[in-house]
Amino acid sequence: MYFDTHAHYDSGAFNEDRLPLLASMPEKGVELIIDPGCDLISSRKAIELAERFDFVYAAVGWHPEDIDKLTEEDYRSMESLAQHKKCVAIGEIGLDYYWDASQKDVQKALFRRQAELALRLNKPVIVHDREAHADSLDIVCDYPELRGVFHCYSGSVEMAEILLKRGWYLGFDGPITYKNARKAIEVLKACPLDRILIETDSPYLSPVPQRGKRNDSGNLKYVVEKIAEVKGMEPKTVAKLTAENGRRLFGL
Ligand code: NI
Repeated sequence: MYFDTHAHYDSGAFNEDRLPLLASMPEKGVELIIDPGCDLISSRKAIELAERFDFVYAAVGWHPEDIDKLTEEDYRSMESLAQHKKCVAIGEIGLDYYWDASQKDVQKALFRRQAELALRLNKPVIVHDREAHADSLDIVCDYPELRGVFHCYSGSVEMAEILLKRGWYLGFDGPITYKNARKAIEVLKACPLDRILIETDSPYLSPVPQRGKRNDSGNLKYVVEKIAEVKGMEPKTVAKLTAENGRRLFGL
């Protein structure tokens, strides 16, 4: 019933219980999970988990936060890994000026390179945009054929409308349950039901009432309940529609 389109089970935070935790997800109503990589090593781990569990898929990509680790050789290996049959997207890629605004040009070049890879492989992208809204929007608009999701969307309603018009999806995570979530709630109200994806970003961004603890896909129900409340719908319907959206975007 739930499709967690963004969860980092390759993270060290799951070293103690990764496999049993993932194995328990179907009984918690989680029917599909995408684990996005952030560099070559985590992309490989994501693919390994996708090979092990039928309901886990991987995205392969290089995150802007991990730019210092980038070598040309690793980038090439990442590109060939992206052709694996359980790799359903290029991600997590994008721009992060919160973490480091000193290398904007390097970040932008890497984002463009991976957008072009996604187009070549005919896969969607999973975009990380943190305090880099204008530049992220500029880059994706330079590729009219590019499709994907703005993960944990944090931009304005106006930017959301531009993306939605161009066929993009918006990802909503635990922060929509926080008290200060005014802006994200406005975006959620403006976002049509057929463009909403639900994400945990596990192990990060736990929703209320689990805030501060390690997150996992079992907490998706809190995100779904919040969306249902904002949209005036049954949580079950929200779970079903968002899972359909994920299947449509990622071709599952
Ligand atoms: Ni993430």
